[in-house]
Amino acid sequence: MCRYYSSLTIAKNAPKNFAMSNAQIKNAEQPNIITPANIDWQTDDTGNRVPVSGEFGDVYFSHADGLAESRHVFLAHNQLPARLAKLAPKQCFTIAELGFGTGLNLLATWQLWRQLRDKQPQLATARLHFITTEKYPIPLADLTQILILWGQRAPELTEFIKPLLTAYPPLIAGCHRLKFFEDNLTVDIWLGDAADSLGKLAVDTSLKPTPYIDAWFLDGFAPSCNSSLWADAIFAQMQRLSRPMTTAATYSCAGIVKRALQECGFQIKKVKGFGRKREMLTAVMSDPKLADDNHSINGNAALPSEQSHTIVIGAGVSGLLTAWALANRGIQVSLLDKSAPLAGASGNPRALLAPKMTPLHHVDEHLHSIGYLYSNRLYRLLNKRAEKEGIAPILEATGALDLLIKANIGTEQIADYPDDMANTLSCEQAQNVSGLKAQNLLENLYLPQSGLVNPQALKNTILTHPLIHFQQLDVTNISEMEGSVCIEGSNQDKGLLSISADNVVICAAYDSHKLDKRIFDCRKIRGQLSWFVPTAEQYAKLPKIPLKYSGYCASFIAQTGDDDLNKVITGAPHLLLGASFVRNDTDTDVRNEEHQISRDKLVTAIPEMKSIIPTDISLWQGRAGIRTQTPDYHPIVGQLARSKRMWLMSAMGAKGYALAPICAEALADMMLGSFPPLSTAMLARLSPNRTRLQTPLI
Ligand SMILES: Cc1cc2nc3c(=O)[nH]c(=O)nc-3n(C[C@H](O)[C@H](O)[C@H](O)COP(=O)(O)OP(=O)(O)OC[C@H]3O[C@@H](n4cnc5c(N)ncnc54)[C@H](O)[C@@H]3O)c2cc1C
Ligand SMILES: C[S@@+](CC[C@H](N)C(=O)[O-])C[C@H]1O[C@@H](n2cnc3c(N)ncnc32)[C@H](O)[C@@H]1O
Repeated sequence: MCRYYSSLTIAKNAPKNFAMSNAQIKNAEQPNIITPANIDWQTDDTGNRVPVSGEFGDVYFSHADGLAESRHVFLAHNQLPARLAKLAPKQCFTIAELGFGTGLNLLATWQLWRQLRDKQPQLATARLHFITTEKYPIPLADLTQILILWGQRAPELTEFIKPLLTAYPPLIAGCHRLKFFEDNLTVDIWLGDAADSLGKLAVDTSLKPTPYIDAWFLDGFAPSCNSSLWADAIFAQMQRLSRPMTTAATYSCAGIVKRALQECGFQIKKVKGFGRKREMLTAVMSDPKLADDNHSINGNAALPSEQSHTIVIGAGVSGLLTAWALANRGIQVSLLDKSAPLAGASGNPRALLAPKMTPLHHVDEHLHSIGYLYSNRLYRLLNKRAEKEGIAPILEATGALDLLIKANIGTEQIADYPDDMANTLSCEQAQNVSGLKAQNLLENLYLPQSGLVNPQALKNTILTHPLIHFQQLDVTNISEMEGSVCIEGSNQDKGLLSISADNVVICAAYDSHKLDKRIFDCRKIRGQLSWFVPTAEQYAKLPKIPLKYSGYCASFIAQTGDDDLNKVITGAPHLLLGASFVRNDTDTDVRNEEHQISRDKLVTAIPEMKSIIPTDISLWQGRAGIRTQTPDYHPIVGQLARSKRMWLMSAMGAKGYALAPICAEALADMMLGSFPPLSTAMLARLSPNRTRLQTPLI
């Protein structure tokens, strides 16, 4: 019996129970490759066109009134209206859903959350974290059609549908974090098998508070046709991720569901189902073994320990994004830099936002890909905020073309990717988008969502946050006490100063180790970016979008305020060329020989540029910065060993603009007891205390 079988007149094409569809077979062979849902549009009893899962032959929601059913089963029977209304300032409530499907449950929850926040000012800093899993995500075109129909049936959902569709990720495995800042809502969509995804949720009991799920939405298709969502592995994860008084709700009263919930420590109760349905299940975790320091068995889940003020040392992209992530969680941030925001490697006129690619079957555990997609979404959201503040756009979404001269992926592997993330253009298309005429562009990687980040605009936007206070301070000492942390340093005008806070995050890049001896002394790689103002004739012949080869080049028009940071001419076009790599050199003088290196890289890769790029580089401008890199190339993100209040985020290498936003989210979640958007294994790879960082560089 399928989930809402009675409301459908035709489910004839449904695969037989437990028979595997082609999609399921492909998924079983390569668990990290996502198979999009195959939506079968059918007609229900009342003549409505309804989406049916081609994989499971079941409907996504009841067509009698799916929205009302969602509110009854999942919202009301997890007591969400009352529980959300009672949240304390800064408290986070976490929901986990099995089966994202069309997102209807999310939309219903979001609407409830907005209503409560509108009515209750004390919820202003409370947060909602909605974690959902999906193995067969619905392609955006189908989802758009489905949600447009919902918008017509339930106009109260329309204001949530558009932002959801805008943020909907490309269909690749792994965690996709979507932020809806206005509502203090974070949605993590884990694409892949639910048991695997839940298994990746990090519960590090050494960090206090420790995250846990407050409410479960068990919304698989009926157990008879969707056994994997009701399997022992799922219930084992539910037990691992729950605490006393965690609740669960499901429309299903199947025997296996009841037994499994009881076996994993839930007390179950049958209650009246929605509409004509006789019954449904609610459950409360009552396993005393799950009580811990934070959550007593009486259900008095402790509030996150009082944290109100964090010091962030270093105002490059790492420090700025960390400050932003914390401030959006209600934490007051003192952001410090020994000179000024963006004084270090982050202060280039523009940064290219482009991922280092990997074969698709590795993508779910690939920080560059996850980070690139998240940064992309975040910068686009921040563009709107920047516009409101009269600040230049943060991301200019130009797209980018990689000529695959120095790439770790070939066209066959690129073809595995969804086109909206990465694809290969035909030679003619590539010539059209790039403006190159004589180049053989048969092999290429086109990144439609890539673009140029304007660091100055990003900084200006972040510093408008009322909870972020920037101060110039060269920090010289950090001392951690039982109840606080205190830093000392010197300010250009005021001399020696000390500041106390609940936590400190060190984002001082290659200088970080000077602030604490537990911090690894990273490799330092000098890099210089060069630029010049082309003549109108040259400009017309320059590449039309950013290009990657053994280096990269991009045209940009300097915006108001860019000249505070770099020698550019406001309103004029510039060509940016990058970048040199010089190991163990921390000088930041601008060198003609490195201008020359960047010119040579460009004209060697694209000979038609030889006659266009001036040979006289004496008028070129440049900026040198120091990249910070670990021996295993992973950034460093996490809490220092034997510390409760000292955290580190550093070693962004050559990709800080793609990596820092997701790393900052992960760090802020670890600090405040929420689930990070990175797997346990990934967090171990990023840990400041990992084995590889125990041996100094020689
Ligand atoms: C030439 C070049 C080109 C690049 N191009 C790109 C690109 O196109 N795309 C991309 O994603 N990445 C690019 N990168 C890499 C990127 O710039 C870095 O990954 C990123 O800037 C690292 O940011 P961060 O905040 O960790 O470090 P930084 O930006 O170096 O910031 C560290 C800050 O800490 C401050 N600080 C240090 N010690 C103290 C102290 N004791 N007290 C107070 N403050 C302190 C410093 O003043 C500095 O402002 C490039 C790098 C270089 C050098
Ligand atoms: C009933 S639908 C969910 C409806 C959804 N909650 C909504 O609001 O539209 C069940 C979903 O579970 C997904 N699913 C099935 N097996 C899965 C698995 N093993 N892991 C993750 N998702 C799975 C299906 O693809 C489907 O989208």
